[in-house]
Amino acid sequence: MENKIVYLNGDYLPLPEAKVSVLDRGFLFGDGIYEVIPSYSGHLFHLDDHLQRLENSLAGIRLSNPHSRLEWQAILEPLLDANFDQYIYLQITRGTASKRDHAFPENVPVTVFAMCSNIVPFAGLNVGVKAISMDDTRWQLCNIKAITLLGNILHRQAAVDKGCAEALLVKDGYLVEGAASNVFAVFDGVLITPPKTNEILPGITRDVILDLARKNNIAFSEDKILFADIQSASELWVTSSTREIVPIVELDGVMIGDGKPGPVWHTMHTILQAYKQSLL
Ligand code: PDD
Repeated sequence: MENKIVYLNGDYLPLPEAKVSVLDRGFLFGDGIYEVIPSYSGHLFHLDDHLQRLENSLAGIRLSNPHSRLEWQAILEPLLDANFDQYIYLQITRGTASKRDHAFPENVPVTVFAMCSNIVPFAGLNVGVKAISMDDTRWQLCNIKAITLLGNILHRQAAVDKGCAEALLVKDGYLVEGAASNVFAVFDGVLITPPKTNEILPGITRDVILDLARKNNIAFSEDKILFADIQSASELWVTSSTREIVPIVELDGVMIGDGKPGPVWHTMHTILQAYKQSLL
């Protein structure tokens, strides 16, 4: 086990010493929420946006936020190493009750856990990856970044079992997002991504890309993507904090565009790298 230092309920501890009770509601029920926050050269990327989403997720499961934004920053920064590109995993559960009961316990402090890991550059970024499509079997509150991830896990594993990097999820005939990513497609030169609803996680990378598209005069719109239209897309991407913008060059065994990362991907990837650099 890695001997790195992690944060648990006010203490910084070596990972093997960080322990929670088996009665923790995160363990028993998956009753909690999380965030994944990238950090480049020791600078947390769009921290305010991640903390706002954390706040929304907490409200979505009726937990109050245990810390102010400045306190969160002070908790997370000591975990970072400026020599690496990293990401913080931050989890808050409804704490440890004295017995297992579905209903919320009263007066129980939340459990707060955070750790930092190095970002391993995603293989396949420059050549593109394969994906499969699947009917979305998840619940109706996908806007909450809940630790209860069985649906997402089963989708992602189905993709891995087929030698693919991601499962793209289809709901009522529309492409919604990936098992652990948001989705973008290019139709007739216009970048399209589904609007923010309870059917998707409001990705921070997604918002950054839309903002960069706006500032760089790249045509885009937030629109539903009919899955039946997907073969007429010239490009298909998935986005997330840990993998950034990943071009999908084959979906369900059929080539997307000319089977290579497309020109809009190249442009946006370059713009994103320059933007990250500009924040340091
Ligand atoms: N997942 N949609 C889902 C279902 C996700 O799990 C993620 C990210 C995203 C992209 O969000 P963002 O751009 O804020 O990372 C969209 C993280 C990385 C994870 O679960 O590890």
